[in-house]
Amino acid sequence: RRGLQTLGRVTLITIVTTGGVFYYITQRERNPGPQLPHDPSKKNVVVVGSGWGSTAFLKNLDTSEYNVTVISPRNFFLFTPLLPSVAVGTIAPNSILQPIRYLTRHKDRKITVIEAEAKSVDPIAKTITFADETEVQGEVSSTTIPFDYLIYAVGAETQTFGIPGVKEHACFMKEIQDAEKFKRRFMDCIESAGFPGQREEEIERLLHMVVVGGGPTGIEVSGELHDFLEDDLKFWYPELAQKIKITLIEALPSVLPMFSRELIDYTVSTFKESKIDILTGTMVKEVKEKTVVLQMPDKTIKEVPVGMVVWAGGNKARGVSIDLMSRLVDAQKNKRGITVDDHLRMAGTDGTIFAVGDCTSTQYAPTAQVASQQGAYIARMFKQLAKRDALLEQIMTVQKEGGSTESLEKQLTKVENLRPFHYSHQGSLAYIGSEKAIADLEFFHHKFSSGGVATFLFWRSAYMSTLFSLRNRVLVSTDWLKVKLFGRDLVRD
Ligand code: FAD
Ligand code: NAI
Repeated sequence: RRGLQTLGRVTLITIVTTGGVFYYITQRERNPGPQLPHDPSKKNVVVVGSGWGSTAFLKNLDTSEYNVTVISPRNFFLFTPLLPSVAVGTIAPNSILQPIRYLTRHKDRKITVIEAEAKSVDPIAKTITFADETEVQGEVSSTTIPFDYLIYAVGAETQTFGIPGVKEHACFMKEIQDAEKFKRRFMDCIESAGFPGQREEEIERLLHMVVVGGGPTGIEVSGELHDFLEDDLKFWYPELAQKIKITLIEALPSVLPMFSRELIDYTVSTFKESKIDILTGTMVKEVKEKTVVLQMPDKTIKEVPVGMVVWAGGNKARGVSIDLMSRLVDAQKNKRGITVDDHLRMAGTDGTIFAVGDCTSTQYAPTAQVASQQGAYIARMFKQLAKRDALLEQIMTVQKEGGSTESLEKQLTKVENLRPFHYSHQGSLAYIGSEKAIADLEFFHHKFSSGGVATFLFWRSAYMSTLFSLRNRVLVSTDWLKVKLFGRDLVRD
């Protein structure tokens, strides 16, 4: 009995202590303290964007040396790896978003956050022009400000190759609005297929879901769609669910070219079991309201009826990046993105503009891993730049007074020796549906591939640990639990 009493007491103390620590952390997060004001003697850093690259920079930056302004059309960070889960209602949209102020309000010095879209950057005058393009605008909705340093991280937009009808008729999978639109349209197709008197061919058309692009986005969307069908729709729409057809179309001879052959084969066989059709070597030539036009591997043209098309055709540079590159035409010849040097300084500038993430064109794949490592690298480099700038000022003062600058210059040489960016690849992970994931990992220079249910648990734990905040972790794990208990939401909102 005494043993039971002790166990009960230990359990109670553990629960109370854990609850207390959890409460303390959440309250500290919710109630940020006062911040230092902007200091006119410090350099002004403008950060463009609030995605992976920008937030990694902001998280790691020591603000005691800089005045920082963030400009982004969305006032939050989006955790893209779980976006396909939002599209089918496994996760609620807000669970993978984090307001950017939750980060900036915790820095030592105040950071100004402006919800606006960068319209142009003048790399010579060192100014940026931006505009508020939201529904509600004040008397002033466009302005230009100067910068000493610019961290340019606007990401990329979806590549459509100018294929007719894509923008008008397809759904993308890049922003939170895309996932919400996907869910609405998908449920609309099902409800319309159930409308009384619908012809059989029309039902088949409405229930044919086409995913274009066999990169990781297309694969994850197809896998999630299949889960929704198997776990939920089969029970709530028994007559219609069996008629839902998912087709993945890829122009190249294989899907997932960035993964090992073994994992590509594993994905293809899992999709076969899941009854997801993969058409490789097939190119989408046009998207119409009710059909897609395909060029088959034998070059014949086929028009296929569809209810919904999801377009995951890769990345292309945003208009504002193309405009910026065109101002430095001699150094910026690569149309795919901004060319940077080993220190991520934009080629053709005097080293005051840094570009990171999907807006750049480098040897690295456009991934969150790369963008966040680049952002963190620049923040570390800014510590050294602050020292360099302070030394330069000291040297100028001493020179004016006619003193010797020898020792200061020696220090300057050391500080100016900046280490180049080095990317450390942590591996590639993707969810392929049916509670299976694939992973190409690297441990101590040894490559290791795995696929299946255990990898799915690893996938979940890896993303759980990389989510932005404790709040996101709590919300996402609650969503996963809710789906296990009650299934996915069928509401078309
Ligand atoms: P983003 O994160 O896209 O951020 C760009 C920011 O710039 C945004 O805040 C945007 O609002 C802002 N912006 C846009 N235009 C302007 C403008 N004119 N002015 C100012 N700001 C602007 N990568 C992985 O490593 N692992 C994954 O599992 C993974 N899964 C993914 C799943 C999906 C569905 C998608 C679409 C991508 C995924 N990626 C993944 C890729 C990853 O999301 C990108 O590589 C990453 O977002 C790039 O970071 P970034 O900072 O360059 O751009
Ligand atoms: P992607 O560039 O990887 O793949 C797009 C695919 O669409 C290409 O294979 C291309 O051949 C195909 N395509 C383009 N036009 C076509 C057409 N007309 N007809 C048929 N096929 C066509 O793009 P994705 O998947 O959006 O990924 C973008 C970046 O984000 C990649 O670098 C990727 O690594 C990263 N990402 C990583 C994820 C992960 O690690 N789990 C998940 C999602 C994205």
